[in-house]
Formats: sequence, structure tokens, C-alpha cells
Amino acid sequence: MASYASPAPDRSAQRKFFVTTPIPEPAMTMLRRSGHVDLPSGALSDTDLECACASGRYDVIVAQLNDRFDRDVLDAARIRGISNFAVGYNNIDVEHATANGVMVANTPEVLTDATADIAMLLILATARRAVEADTFMRSGQFDGWKPNLLLGHDITDRTLGLVGFGRIARATARRAVAFGMNVIFCARPSTERPTDTRDLADLAGSVRSVGWDELVTTSDFLSVHVPLNEQTHHLVNAAVLNAMKPSSILINTARGPIVDETALVSALESKAIAAAGLDVYEDEPRMATGLAQLPNTVLLPHIGSATVSVRAEMARLCALNAIAIAAGTIPPHAVNPQAWDL
Ligand code: DGY
Repeated sequence: MASYASPAPDRSAQRKFFVTTPIPEPAMTMLRRSGHVDLPSGALSDTDLECACASGRYDVIVAQLNDRFDRDVLDAARIRGISNFAVGYNNIDVEHATANGVMVANTPEVLTDATADIAMLLILATARRAVEADTFMRSGQFDGWKPNLLLGHDITDRTLGLVGFGRIARATARRAVAFGMNVIFCARPSTERPTDTRDLADLAGSVRSVGWDELVTTSDFLSVHVPLNEQTHHLVNAAVLNAMKPSSILINTARGPIVDETALVSALESKAIAAAGLDVYEDEPRMATGLAQLPNTVLLPHIGSATVSVRAEMARLCALNAIAIAAGTIPPHAVNPQAWDL
């Protein structure tokens, strides 16, 4: 197990935090002011994380998406909670966290606009072949304007289909409407729960709720905005990809495993769909064989929330959550407040 490097011991500190990966300021300062912070001295293995959780030395683990808290880790854990530096928490088995009295907290809302910006960027970049054009330019192939050079597709008057209708989907819808797109959505693809006017709010009249089949078969851009769970794993599979229009483009800024990435590569190779814009991957940081070689893809390294101010705000929320959990109070962004009711 890696040893833990810590600053000078603070014997007065009661609260103990284990931060698996340093997160931006102001978080580290907030945590150090509130208690004692340990960091791993090197790369953190799954076993190191399990040992840190079971050691009884820490109140809170400040974690990020690569840290896996499965049933075994949580059953053995002697911690009050986990403060996840992300809005998503599919790296944590929340059911078993709750069963073991482990509070889980996340960082919602502050990354909504930044992630919607990346969805829009991928829509524009795939439609207008921005990466191909950039590569063309840098490789010295541009020898003057030509009527047929790198023709892409319009997004105005095209249909954007949103898989899900949560905060990030709605922020993407607002941007798409401003670009003159028609926006349809299926709020809960696994249940097809009808959406009422409260869900639509300011988007009423600009967007339309449709069933899953209509969403898949009529969208020019199908953009994924649902959390990853058992119901959404491989929601976009070979059958869905083959049901999409051959001219359509898949966008994923949510979680990689929602899309069957091997099936996606086949669909792109066989031209069952025209292109894909991805910020997330099924087995990060790896990509499915063949994906990187396809010219009709725009591939980003999970940067949906990656702006200086968003990451600082996520860090602040993450520290607030951690400090609250360590103090034995329900954190501002609790995922499972019931964990302490048991
Ligand atoms: C999240 O917060 O869940 C993103 O994927 C990373 O910011």
C-alpha cells in the first residue's frame, strides 16, 4: 500500500480527510483549515483506496471519477462519507454506501453550462468537419479556396434529439434553439415518463417531447444526457445505431458506457450513421479499437467541465460537502441523505 504524505501533523485537528487526487483551490486550503488532509504519496491503486477507507483514519474520502467504491470497499469502509469531485457518481455503489451509513455528495449545477457548451461544440465540429479541416490546414494541403472543399452540413433547421431532459440537456436545448435547430427530447428513455409543463419551464413551445423510437429515427443529431446506471448501460446499442438516419450524428458528453462503443465503431465504419462527437468513452482512458482512426469523429478527453472557473467552483462545493460530512451534518449536495437515517 502507498504511504500517505501529509503536511506537518496538526494534533488539534479532529476532522480527517483523505484526498485521492489534489483538487483545485480553494478546496485544498478549505480542507486544511478545517482539519487534517492526507494525500497518497504516489499512484493510488484500488487496494490503497480500499485500505484508506477501511483504516478508520479518515472521516471523509475526497474522491474523483476514477476511484471505484464498489460493494466490497463500502462494506469494509470505516468512513462517514465520500465527497465526489463530479456531478456524476457512477463510480460509487450508492445503494451499498447507504446500507453502510456512508454519505455520498456530488457537485451539481456549476458545470451545467460548460458541459452544454461542449455538446454544442461537438455538434458544430462534427457537422462542419472542424477537426478534419484543422488537420488539412496544418498538413499543408490547403492550396486555395475550392467550391467543394470540406463540405459539411448545416445545423440550422436540423433536428437535435436529446436523450434525457435534465439540467445539461435543457442547457443544450437553449443553445440549439438559438442556433435555429428543432429540438425534441425523450426525458426518461427507460420509462418514457411524460414530461409536464413544469419540466419544460422556459423551453415550453421551443422543444417537443417524443417517444424513444421517434427520437432515435428522426434526429439529425442524437445527444446523450442521462446518468449512467443499470437502465442506461448500452442504451445506445447496435440496434439503436442502425435505426438512426444514415446522415445522423451521435454526440455523447454524459458517460461512455451508455453507448456500446464497439457497435459505434462498426456503425461509423459501415456508414450506418455519419459521424460521432465524443467527450466520454466506455473504458476511459482507452478507446475502442478503430475509433481513433475514423475521420468522421471528433474525440475530446472528458473535458465537459474543464474550465478554470467551473473546476474551482466544483472544488469549493466538494470541500463544503466534505467539511459538512466530517462534522456529522448533511452536506449541501447529498446524494443519499437517507444514509444517516438508518
Ligand atoms: C462530472 O462531473 O460528472 C463530469 O463528468 C466531470 O466533471
